[in-house]
Amino acid sequence: MSEVVSYNREGKIGVITVNYPPVNALGQAVRSGLLAALEQGQKDADAKVLLLVCEGRTFIAGADIREFGKPMQEPTLPALVNTFENSDKPLVAAIHGTALGGGLETALSCHYRVAVSSAKVGLPEVKLGLLPGAGGTQRLPRLTGARKALDMITTGEFVGARDALALGILDAVDDGDDIRAAGLAYAQKVADEGKPVRRVRDITDKIEADKGSDVFDQFRDELKKRARGLFSPFKCVDAVEAAFSLPFDEGMKRERELFMECMESPQRGGLIHSFFGEREVSRVKGLAKDTPVRDVKSVGIIGAGTMGGGIAMNFVNVGIPVTIVEVKQEALDKGLAIIRRNYENSAKKGKLTQAQVEQRMALITPSLTYDDFRDVDLVIEAVFENMAIKKEIFARLDEVCKPGAILASNTSTLDIDEIASATKRPEDVVGMHFFSPANVMKLLENVRGSKTSDEVKATVMAVAKKIRKVGVMVGNGYGFVGNRMLHKRGTEAMSLVDEGATPQQVDKVLTDLGFPMGQFAMSDLAGIDVGYRIREERRKAGEDIPASWMDKLAEQGRLGQKTLAGVYKYEEGSRKPVPDPKVEQLIEQFRKEQGITPRAITDQEILERCMYAMINEGARILEEGIADRPLDIDIVWIYGYGFPAHRGGPMFWADQEGLDTILCAVKKYRDTVGGEQWEPSALLEKLVSEGRKFGDL
Ligand code: 3HC
Repeated sequence: MSEVVSYNREGKIGVITVNYPPVNALGQAVRSGLLAALEQGQKDADAKVLLLVCEGRTFIAGADIREFGKPMQEPTLPALVNTFENSDKPLVAAIHGTALGGGLETALSCHYRVAVSSAKVGLPEVKLGLLPGAGGTQRLPRLTGARKALDMITTGEFVGARDALALGILDAVDDGDDIRAAGLAYAQKVADEGKPVRRVRDITDKIEADKGSDVFDQFRDELKKRARGLFSPFKCVDAVEAAFSLPFDEGMKRERELFMECMESPQRGGLIHSFFGEREVSRVKGLAKDTPVRDVKSVGIIGAGTMGGGIAMNFVNVGIPVTIVEVKQEALDKGLAIIRRNYENSAKKGKLTQAQVEQRMALITPSLTYDDFRDVDLVIEAVFENMAIKKEIFARLDEVCKPGAILASNTSTLDIDEIASATKRPEDVVGMHFFSPANVMKLLENVRGSKTSDEVKATVMAVAKKIRKVGVMVGNGYGFVGNRMLHKRGTEAMSLVDEGATPQQVDKVLTDLGFPMGQFAMSDLAGIDVGYRIREERRKAGEDIPASWMDKLAEQGRLGQKTLAGVYKYEEGSRKPVPDPKVEQLIEQFRKEQGITPRAITDQEILERCMYAMINEGARILEEGIADRPLDIDIVWIYGYGFPAHRGGPMFWADQEGLDTILCAVKKYRDTVGGEQWEPSALLEKLVSEGRKFGDL
């Protein structure tokens, strides 16, 4: 018997137990173990009913993703689940934790399913660029009908046990928390009542009911909007449709063909890179696994503006009390009113109860004095970008906060070491850069100063996890990782428009690549005044910042979405950017003033200049150690800037483009466009000369 799957008998019940931490994934050892255990159960004359149950934190959470892309080893999962379904003894699956993907498919091949009430089930393959490939697309609709199956399979969302029971996916839900006991009790009932083998493949009433329905076309239309540019969601619909148009065995064959198409698609590679990347970033290079972590039970926030308020909500949402300090009562009231409005909106959508809204608001203490930070474990400063003010604040925090409190800045560009120098405890100072809207965006760029202690680094990474963010540890340098690369893209986007492109042409190239919005639509969302103020400050400081047509927009009060006009115009209540002839005229005028004769610019040039400038900068960031690994950059971009996850992040994407192609273009633009951003990164040159990729680092 395999070490990861065991068989034993309890009375009349033959129990097959999977024990393959952490999530009982269906690797080859588990698959062959399951097959052997099933055979043993079949042969065991005293076993009347067989029970499948898992040890540890969860039922089987899916196929072993680490095996994808490698040669398939016997027994394959589809063959295994068919053997399960064909068992001539009734088989019961007992589910706790999450039965996902191949895990749910295995459960669907059992004849009965019982779960504890905290369990969830789902077919999340689509999130990995795949479709359920072990009968999920054929069996699930036999239980739920077409619409719900399409819903679950094309979104990958999980369904709680009670809902799964109502949908017919489960046969029973147990209120206890002992899954083995629940499974044994249910299996005993099956034995006592002489319940028959009941194969999902033979259940056809819902198939008959939805045959010829137009729901499949409806889903395809919907997906054109919801899953633009993605491959596998459409294949999911094709596979589910096959359950309604083909006999079961042929449907299974069709599912397999479509699954293999997805497996071979580059999107699968990108999505799996981001799945593992999201988890890998939590392992910070050079930070020992057993580094002590400080307890963060209360948080102070300076600034009740959009950022401060959003940051506060993250903590309150997980039950951590927050003290928000502002300079003026009015600003404090306004900030709290916005937080309340956000929660009330969630309540209106049914995501929170009114009581929960009140509970969350009660966790916030508004204050006008830093003295209220005396006992907090972590303070996050979220005031506007001005070094002098930040240093004043940190000096004051140093006086007030208790020893061991972590002092963090939400700065998006400024030097953490300089901020830390205002205190006598630079080892406790760190950057925690949230992304706007801070209660929504999943990224938290944690910035280590040169003196930040390991304990503080480990703690802010743990805090990220606690507040359900993806924390990435980065080094200290202007703009850190994300904004530093974004600025390069922004510079190129501006130059392209100066030279003859339209903002909408630039944005379309980026949205066609899969970004949710382009560079200029993003400026409108963030506010044109933000960049304008930064440029003005730098000009005042004597830097040579060239004039730009964006300055003119700001001067005309076209500040973006908030004024319904920026680079684009907006209808009241709509976020849809509409090209504005007035802006085209303004750009034309600007070109005349600058003596620029516009030229036609191809989409390919836009793609190369926007993206390759970023990649070159990403390579420099790696060279300088600001990011430890290419995947850290990838995750920053996926979770902070909406880089399309199916392309795996900018550095993964660069490897697919070919580093030699990119280097060649970088050199071309150095010679034609010029500017420091087109000086090739030494790392990029080295990798190309050695025939290696970012993924090899
Ligand atoms: N294969 C291999 N490893 C897996 C895995 C899988 N299916 N699912 C999770 N893991 C690993 C993670 O990489 C992580 O490893 P690490 O500790 O070395 O970083 C570890 O298990 C724990 O995972 P999480 O940190 O994500 O733990 P959580 O408790 O937060 O979440 C989970 C658990 C909900 C199961 C989550 O891991 C998850 O969603 N996993 C993916 C599930 C999935 O997509 N299943 C479908 C697979 S495709 C398939 O089944 C194809 C079939 O149709 C043919």
